[in-house]
Amino acid sequence: MKEKLQKIKEDALSAINSDNADLEQIRIQYLGKKGELTSVLRGMGALTAEERPVVGQIANEVRADIENALKIKAEAQKAAELERKLVTEKIDVTLPSNVAASGKLHPLTQVQRTIEDIFIGMGFSIAEGPEVEYDYYNFQALNIPENHPARDTQDTFYITESILLRSQTSPVQVRTMEKQKPPIRIISPGRVYRSDAVDATHSPLFHQVEGLVVDKGITMGDLKGMLETFAKTLFGNETRLRFRPHHFPFTEPSAEVDVSCFVCGGKGCRVCKNEGWIEILGAGMVHPYVLSNCGIDPEEYSGFAFGMGVERIAMKYYGIDDMRLLYENDTRFLGQF
Ligand code: PHE
Repeated sequence: MKEKLQKIKEDALSAINSDNADLEQIRIQYLGKKGELTSVLRGMGALTAEERPVVGQIANEVRADIENALKIKAEAQKAAELERKLVTEKIDVTLPSNVAASGKLHPLTQVQRTIEDIFIGMGFSIAEGPEVEYDYYNFQALNIPENHPARDTQDTFYITESILLRSQTSPVQVRTMEKQKPPIRIISPGRVYRSDAVDATHSPLFHQVEGLVVDKGITMGDLKGMLETFAKTLFGNETRLRFRPHHFPFTEPSAEVDVSCFVCGGKGCRVCKNEGWIEILGAGMVHPYVLSNCGIDPEEYSGFAFGMGVERIAMKYYGIDDMRLLYENDTRFLGQF
């Protein structure tokens, strides 16, 4: 019987330690109710009284050894399984994840808001006007005569003879002065339309920001100082301004205003086309006729006005050389700004 027990122990241990051992099956086979060890123990009745405790003790030891071996192997199997999972199921944390793309403001909106913020900081408020406008506000009240080339259908989109798509934001000057008595200090951003063919620097739809200040004793010096503050805030403290005489029917005197190139500082580069200066806006002192057209006495009040193209400023600001890129809505391009 002792030999039998010894044999059971050896068989069980070698089964347990074989590769891919099915431990539950082995446990049933050796230690189960109908298992090999149990059937040996059943035969103990045939032993003598002296033999019985000896064999019983050996049987207990065999059971304990098998149970212990099962336990150690079970732990080893668990560890091996975990190791296998760690190797096969590893995650490459360097792979890019599927992040939800978040939107951002269009570069034109960003520049427009930057311009707005600068003027709001100088005490201006924002006035808006219609994009579908009367000829009266877009031209007539602004002292633009009947035969002026801007009134040609080549340049302006007409809806009827007296209604058009505004070609500038200047009509908001008139609408504001009609409603509001001085002091007036507004800017008016918005879309404007001109019958131009699309190319790198033209679009039938573009954006302007108009500015208007009317009060007692406003001079060209106020215009210059205010524009200088604006340009320095937008383009940097080194920026200088240059006023070139010009003509607008609704301002007198009028000027086109350049800023020293914020890229090269005036030496000449790709952005300023080697001129050292970048034209950014038109401006002047509000024409006395325009003030009277709006019911403001030019003997009592004076004012200045200016208008700038948002596309033009955005393109210079960001170094974009083709306006069409701003409208094609390719997010690979727009996402850079
Ligand atoms: N409205 C003019 C333009 O579109 C710009 C401007 C505005 C000039 C105000 C002078 C004063 O060119």
